[in-house]
Amino acid sequence: MTQVIRSSAELREKVAGWKRSGMLVGVVPTMGALHDGHMSLVRAAREQSDRVIVTIFVNPMQFNNVDDLKKYPRDEGHDIGMLEAEGVDVLFAPGVDEVYPEGFATVVSVAGVSEPMEGAFRPGHFDGVATVVAKLFGMTQAGRAFFGEKDWQQLQVVKRLVTDLNIPVRIIGCPTIREADGLAMSSRNVRLSAEERAVAPRLHAVMQAAAEALRQGASVQETLQTAQAEILEAGFADVEYLELRTVEGLRPACDLSAPARMLVAATLGDVRLIDNIAV
Ligand code: PAJ
Repeated sequence: MTQVIRSSAELREKVAGWKRSGMLVGVVPTMGALHDGHMSLVRAAREQSDRVIVTIFVNPMQFNNVDDLKKYPRDEGHDIGMLEAEGVDVLFAPGVDEVYPEGFATVVSVAGVSEPMEGAFRPGHFDGVATVVAKLFGMTQAGRAFFGEKDWQQLQVVKRLVTDLNIPVRIIGCPTIREADGLAMSSRNVRLSAEERAVAPRLHAVMQAAAEALRQGASVQETLQTAQAEILEAGFADVEYLELRTVEGLRPACDLSAPARMLVAATLGDVRLIDNIAV
């Protein structure tokens, strides 16, 4: 049985008991509307920890767009069923007042890696992520935390955060899980119309072709420009960014002399999709 806990005091007690018995606690932070991408993190946590906590909290602080927050899919009953099936020990699903009680006044802000791309297009987003993730680490006291490479920049921000603040948790990045046609799984995919859903996998296909061209020696600037045009031609409304960056520092990469990552954000109808691949 997955125990549902809503108060951080109760969670602290539960975790303290586990730790007294020498157990290693793993946490998978999520915003719910769980899919196979999330469940791959849960499975990794199961394999690499003695007890697993999944957190579900749709964090208002990281939404720079009110409409996106309002439309964010929520289905706790369905989520609990998925967590039970994977043998998750605790679902920590606090309310907004539990996470941000009256008087809350702290913002955790990670400079550098949080600034380009998502940081530029979603002002305040990573402050919200870093603040809530720091709190979730404090509340869960987990020794390991599992994050998806799907949100590559977020993974780098979280790694920087725990290093800089000496938070005693090991961050484990897990590969992106995709639908059979290549579309990266995302809670937002349910908002795509049937037509948009048919176009969506082109994003990954175009990126893969571009990555292959780069590996064959094509110029970075030209390849990215062509790929961007192809994404628009496929039916995307806008490409916010399509960039080649160094894998960890996320500095602009103008060639493949160091390991690089190609990252994209593009909108399809009113749904914003992000993705990234190794080059
Ligand atoms: P959410 O979008 O729910 O994602 C929770 C975790 O699942 C993140 O680490 C994300 O990278 C991972 N994930 C999502 N789709 C995935 C996929 N297709 N394959 C592999 N992993 C995937 O990211 C957040 O929530 C929030 O920002 C959070 C970290 C919980 C802070 O509020």
